[in-house]
Amino acid sequence: MELAAWAEEVARDLLEIPLPRRWAHTQGVAAAARGLAPVLGADADLAEAAAWLHDIGYAPRLCDTGFHPLDGARYLCDAARAEPLLCRLVAHHSCAQAEADERGLGAVLAREFRPAPPRLADALIYADMTTGPGGQHMEVRDRIAEIRSRYGPGHLVSRSIARSAPELTAAVSRVARALALCAPACPAVRLPALAAAGQPM
Ligand SMILES: [Fe+2]
Repeated sequence: MELAAWAEEVARDLLEIPLPRRWAHTQGVAAAARGLAPVLGADADLAEAAAWLHDIGYAPRLCDTGFHPLDGARYLCDAARAEPLLCRLVAHHSCAQAEADERGLGAVLAREFRPAPPRLADALIYADMTTGPGGQHMEVRDRIAEIRSRYGPGHLVSRSIARSAPELTAAVSRVARALALCAPACPAVRLPALAAAGQPM
């Protein structure tokens, strides 16, 4: 079984029933990651698997520290015996270190999981930060604003996303540029189609 297919089943089992909106978001993120296959080459399966799994730490069954990147990565590492790079991608997805610092978990996260290689981290940021909470496509600026608005001013998630915003935006730009460069040689890639790849609300 391909890694992404396995990851989809793991995520479905953990999210679909207890957290249907999170599951809808996850499906949109996975679709966006799949759209990056032409620029990721041999890493496409791994990136899609990380997209399926990036938010499993929200699952009630996995909640331990309450910090979903760490809870999800620990489950993958300890229970699912997933490959280390997949665990690292989930642990550090979308600049998770900033929120870990806000929660007093920065040293724990850094000790347990090394950051993922920048190219793969960028791909996961692109997929997550261009997909809204219902799975719909969003521009990264709107996505960051949506997160800040959902949590409200002063919330630690709002503070950490504000700190991460320049890096998140830069990562999305890097991936969009790579897609644009790839597009002439990869006729299957149509950026507007990718932009519409999210799931219905
Ligand atoms: Fe997400």
